[in-house]
Amino acid sequence: MDSILVTGNGPLHGRIPIAGAKNACLTLMPATLLSEEPLTLTNAPRLSDIKTMTALLQSLGAEVSALQDGQVLAMSSHDLTSHTAEYEIVRKMRASNLVLGPLLARFGQAVVSLPGGCAIGARPMDLHVEGLEALGAEIELKDGYLHAKAPNGLKGAVHEMRFASVGATENIVMAATLAKGATVLKNAAREPEIVDLVECLRKMGAQIQGEGSSTIEIQGVDRLHGATHQVVTDRIELGTYMLAPAICGGEVELLGGRMGLVGSFVEKLTAAGVDVEETEAGLKVSRRNGRVRSVDVVTEPFPGFPTDLQAQMMALMCTADGVSVLEERIFENRFMHAPELMRMGAQIEVHGGTATVTGVERLKGAPVMATDLRASVSLILAGLAAEGETVVSRVYHLDRGYEHVVRKLEGVGAKIERIKG
Ligand code: UD1
Repeated sequence: MDSILVTGNGPLHGRIPIAGAKNACLTLMPATLLSEEPLTLTNAPRLSDIKTMTALLQSLGAEVSALQDGQVLAMSSHDLTSHTAEYEIVRKMRASNLVLGPLLARFGQAVVSLPGGCAIGARPMDLHVEGLEALGAEIELKDGYLHAKAPNGLKGAVHEMRFASVGATENIVMAATLAKGATVLKNAAREPEIVDLVECLRKMGAQIQGEGSSTIEIQGVDRLHGATHQVVTDRIELGTYMLAPAICGGEVELLGGRMGLVGSFVEKLTAAGVDVEETEAGLKVSRRNGRVRSVDVVTEPFPGFPTDLQAQMMALMCTADGVSVLEERIFENRFMHAPELMRMGAQIEVHGGTATVTGVERLKGAPVMATDLRASVSLILAGLAAEGETVVSRVYHLDRGYEHVVRKLEGVGAKIERIKG
């Protein structure tokens, strides 16, 4: 198994291009199932999760071709052959459940394996099921699979979600595009990836309003057609690399970055003493005045502080001046990076969903283990700021969500290499 060797090497300078959003791409790809005509995505990130979704769509009979070195995904669901998402694929990636809504809408039936346990918490699918049942689906759980059918087609409805789940919003919105009549989805998630999905669905002929707010209205249409859509910038990759100069010092410009994608995160960075400015090409981040200050963080649905940046922010807080309290409100078990950071000399106490971090002057390099996607990159960030060498093992987690991480960080002066193993 490969590992990554990072050696603390002082301030970083230069530019990092930010890729298309993994999480947007993973919901845009299943949208192909809604139409017989081709859907083409540009600015797709080159990641193993995208390959997993490709394999899932192909297992349903869709054609998916990765063109231009994987940045363009040309898809067609003209001749689907299956409506079953098998456990063998779903267990690798929870986002596989995003085929449920589209399959149900187009074929009136779908069988989708439950994703099973996940390292960062239970992550059930009750909110997806409740929303689709409100649209008239009949869903039962048999042998670990959700069997969904809508013999008379889906019908628009007013539905309020108990919690603004990202995936459930995406499944319900996709299903409602082909339902009979109007759907009003209340307490919908507001993440930029949902806005991106709706923009793509609209290009395909869907009638949708209110994306980005907590009420989304969908007027069902008989069919959707083909489209070409550019995947939105990855705000989590953006935030992650914004933390690199914050933690190491220096000045780095993140190409393609926009304030609107990372507003609450920028507020915290600024409060910590990091400068962020908008440029023509993106966002420029610099830390010029010594150590950052501790800030408290609470993760919340968008536009709040994203849970997917909590581990990376904790790495920054490990060397901040003062005590920082990080509260995780989205997932119940998302501090697995804390004991690994402690191996590097960090002072962290975890009680339930709260981590208290007392900043130290300098972390020390150590062998550490990646436990999930965002945890793995937080260890790399910590390694960049540490004295000596850090070896991060189990980097297959990283390959799920960060393309060319070594090349991008080397490009701004980091000492980092991938060790084949
Ligand atoms: C998406 C993102 C993930 C991010 C998360 C929260 C993708 C592919 N993944 O995941 O990176 O961390 O949003 O911003 O876009 N829940 C239920 N019942 C449900 C669904 C969810 O209880 O039916 C709970 C989950 O257990 C979790 C919380 O709601 O505690 C948030 O989950 P959700 O917003 O659905 O996240 P995902 O769509 O899985």
